[in-house]
Amino acid sequence: MSELPGKQSAVTLANGVVMPAVGLGTWTLRRERGAELIRAALDAGYRLIDSAAMYDNEDVVGQAVRASGLAREEVFITSKLDNSDHGYERALRAVDESLRRLGMEQMDLYLIHWPQPRKQEETWRAMEAIYAAGKARAIGVSNFDVRDLEAVLRSGEVKPAVNQIELHPRIYAREKPTIDLCQQEGIVVEAYSPLAKGRYLDDPLLREIAGRHGVSTAQVLIRWAVQHGFVAIPRSSKVERIRANLDVFGFELTDEDMARLDAMG
Ligand SMILES: NC(=O)c1ccc[n+]([C@@H]2O[C@H](COP(=O)([O-])OP(=O)(O)OC[C@H]3O[C@@H](n4cnc5c(N)ncnc54)[C@H](OP(=O)(O)O)[C@@H]3O)[C@@H](O)[C@H]2O)c1
Repeated sequence: MSELPGKQSAVTLANGVVMPAVGLGTWTLRRERGAELIRAALDAGYRLIDSAAMYDNEDVVGQAVRASGLAREEVFITSKLDNSDHGYERALRAVDESLRRLGMEQMDLYLIHWPQPRKQEETWRAMEAIYAAGKARAIGVSNFDVRDLEAVLRSGEVKPAVNQIELHPRIYAREKPTIDLCQQEGIVVEAYSPLAKGRYLDDPLLREIAGRHGVSTAQVLIRWAVQHGFVAIPRSSKVERIRANLDVFGFELTDEDMARLDAMG
C-alpha cells in the first residue's frame, strides 16, 4: 500500500501486509446513499473500508472505490464470510461471490464473521485455500473468544492475521483475555462498534478528557483504540462525522487518560 494521506497511522499484519489504523464501518450503508458516504470517506482520506456479505453492500463498496479514482491497491478492503456459508465448499463459493459483487479480483482481508465451532476446522481450511489462491491478501476471524481462537490456532496452519471484536473502553476489561491472547499470537485486534454505537458519548469522563484535548468524545474513543494498537472502524451516516472520526492523529492521550479509560468498565 502506498503512503497513507495526512498523518494517519497503520498496523502491520503478521504476514507483512499493511492495514490502516482507522477505517470506515459500513454496516447499514447501502444503495445510493451508502455509495455517496463511502465515496465521501475515501475523499476525506479513509483507506480502509469494512464490509461483509451480510451487510448487502459489497457492490456499493466496489462502485465507490472505482468512482474515487484511487488505484485499487491504495484502498484496503475487508469483507466477511456469512454465517450461512460455513463449510469448505460453501466458503470457497462465498468468497468468489463476494469478489464478484465487489468487482475485484482480490480483497485485502477476509474474515469469518462469526464462529461456528462445529464447522470451524473445515471453514478455516477453506480460508487457508482462499489465502493460498491469492483471493485475499490476509485472512482472519471476527467475534472469536479465547476458546474459538485456541481451536483455530490448534487445528490451522495459517494463523488468523486479525480478530475483529466489539471493543471500546466499557468492555475493555471483559475482552482483555481475548486481547491478550491475540497480542501473544501476533493477531491484530480490530475494534468494531468503537463508539459503542454512540451509547455513551456524553459520559462525564469522556467529556473531561475530550475537553482537555479540544476534541470530541468520539475522537477520544477512536484515539484510545489507536493508541492501544487496535484498528478502529467507526461508522457514521453523516459526512462531517465521517471526516472528524478520521481526524485523530493530531493529539495524544496521556498514560493517565488511557488508564482511566481502560478502567471504565
Ligand atoms: N464483525 C462484526 O460482527 C461487526 C458487528 C458490528 C459492527 N461491525 C463493524 O463495525 C462498524 C462500526 O460499528 P457500529 O456501526 O456498530 O457502531 P459505532 O461505529 O460504534 O457507532 C455508530 C453510531 O455512532 C454514531 N456516530 C458516529 N460518529 C459519531 C460522532 N463523531 N459523533 C457522534 N455520534 C457518532 C452514528 O450515528 P450517525 O450515523 O447518526 O452519525 C452511529 O449511530 C460497523 O459499521 C461494521 O463495519 C462489525
